[in-house]
Amino acid sequence: MCGIVGYIGKNEAVPVLLNGLSKLEYRGYDSSGMAVHDGNGLNVRKFKGRLSVLEEDLQKNPITSHIGIGHTRWATHGEPSTVNAHPHMDEQGNIAVIHNGILENYMQLKEWLIEEHNVKFLSETDTEVIVHLVHHFYDGDLLDAVTKAVEKMEGAYAIGVICKEEPDKIVAVRKDSPLIVGRGNGENYLASDIPAILKYTKEVYLIENDETVVLTQDSIAIYDSLMQKVERDIYEVTWTADAAEKEGYAHFTLKEIYEQPKGISETIKRRLTYDDEIFFEGVHLTKEDLEKFTKIYIVACGTAYHAGLVGKRAIESLAGVPVQVDIASEFRYSNNFIDENTLFIAVSQSGETLDTLQSLREAKRRGARIMSIVNVVGSSVSRESDDVLYTWAGPEIGVASTKAFTTQLTMFYLLAMYMGKLLGQLDDAKYAEILSELKNIPDQLAEFLEDITEIQHLADSQFNNESVFFMGRAVDVDISFESSLKLKEISYINSFAIAAGELKHGTIALIEEGTLVMALATQKGLFDKMLSNIKEVKARGAYVVAVTQYGGSEIEKVADSVIRIPQCSDLLAPLLSIVPMQLFAYYVSVARGNDVDKPRNLAKSVTVE
Ligand code: AGP
Repeated sequence: MCGIVGYIGKNEAVPVLLNGLSKLEYRGYDSSGMAVHDGNGLNVRKFKGRLSVLEEDLQKNPITSHIGIGHTRWATHGEPSTVNAHPHMDEQGNIAVIHNGILENYMQLKEWLIEEHNVKFLSETDTEVIVHLVHHFYDGDLLDAVTKAVEKMEGAYAIGVICKEEPDKIVAVRKDSPLIVGRGNGENYLASDIPAILKYTKEVYLIENDETVVLTQDSIAIYDSLMQKVERDIYEVTWTADAAEKEGYAHFTLKEIYEQPKGISETIKRRLTYDDEIFFEGVHLTKEDLEKFTKIYIVACGTAYHAGLVGKRAIESLAGVPVQVDIASEFRYSNNFIDENTLFIAVSQSGETLDTLQSLREAKRRGARIMSIVNVVGSSVSRESDDVLYTWAGPEIGVASTKAFTTQLTMFYLLAMYMGKLLGQLDDAKYAEILSELKNIPDQLAEFLEDITEIQHLADSQFNNESVFFMGRAVDVDISFESSLKLKEISYINSFAIAAGELKHGTIALIEEGTLVMALATQKGLFDKMLSNIKEVKARGAYVVAVTQYGGSEIEKVADSVIRIPQCSDLLAPLLSIVPMQLFAYYVSVARGNDVDKPRNLAKSVTVE
């Protein structure tokens, strides 16, 4: 997910583009750039790194122009670098393109442009194909050339195109990726979404799918998929830029909790062939490779470590291979048995967490095969791995990791099924059953998120409770740890997570009148055991909230309240059971007046030991 912006008009383009990009950085922030027509031709400035790098360059070497396009990147194809940053130019420097989305058939088009038209590519991106296509069709009419190029393109895209020969227009096209156009007085704008231009106009056209737009200083023309002109009503914006960036959510953390259905479905969708075979782009693990591994190690920190705990259970139950999970800061200094017969799996949202990175380097030094599950494309962990499985959560801004966690779980389920099938441990029927359930999770989650009043009420009644326990059995222990971490890091309540079976061995001494106990009971075979654990803490005065998809009235009778998650199997329950726990932590944090997105003492990526 990247951010695009464009301006044409009577005023200076550069400040408008920079302002727009600063409002779009939440969409991607690993590199940025712009192309403007400075009267002589197209002047392109693009750099790896945060927007500030581009800003500094433009302060030192200012450009004056009345037309330009800008881009802030979230790398998908080709790691963050200046050459992969947008805008991309044709070989003659006459055409510049910015793009948000993914061109699915870019490899075929690239081969065609190279073999048939001897085009020289500079970058690894899918986007560069677009500018060479436009150049290929250019014959003095930019709109015509873009239209012909789009006819060849498959995938999702919002593109902006300018051309040296036609400094009086910007051409843009939308398919699946968001695009809006802002109307000004003697100036017009385009952007991925409204916050980028809200400082300048509240009059916006919402561009529909397969529509093409031509912006000039004094006009906005919108064409449908048949290139027929269409009339469109202006949409008058009524809210502030800040609210828009969060798309109406009060915090990025809440927005990212609600983005989980999409993140999970994207992570699944991109790993399935048309006949539902799981494949991992660029990863070649054979049956022989897998059989060679005497040990699988999962190493990570914080929330990613908790995802590893769930991953261990999935791989062991579906592929029948023993897995060890370690906290990276411990792994680095402990005597672990790593050699060339070890598959080392690093898990990291940011891909920059130092303890995880150093653990990876240590395992590599000892000959292990390095696989990583990462969200940030081109990050250090991904660059230093043999195999990279990218999660498709999109940029995660809230420090408390939410959507990255559920996409990491999704990746582990896919990986476990892939290994299980490869090793002949998972038969076709079971594979198909789990896959259809996994594919159904995003809809179930979206439906669950429609009504969360019960969780809000619970948070309102419990936000001042300083004694909170999370307990469960089997994978619910792992989710208890993650739930407790979420609550700790954004509410600052010193909560506690425990394997319910351990209660009697000491911890139950801490349970007293009013202690809040969140009891995760999503494992069918252990449901009755959890019922007795609930009775144990109830007997000591605890207020118990059960989280489950099982049990009729009996659990209603035992627990003080029950959060029902959608029907699902024990294996996939974590994808659903963690969400009410994330929401509880969020609403408790809000009720306590904390800075939810930027909690005290924490950073989104811990790049120090
Ligand atoms: C989780 O909410 C925290 N932000 C933190 O525990 C985080 O999971 C940990 O620092 C690992 O980060 P990574 O996934 O980027 O490596």
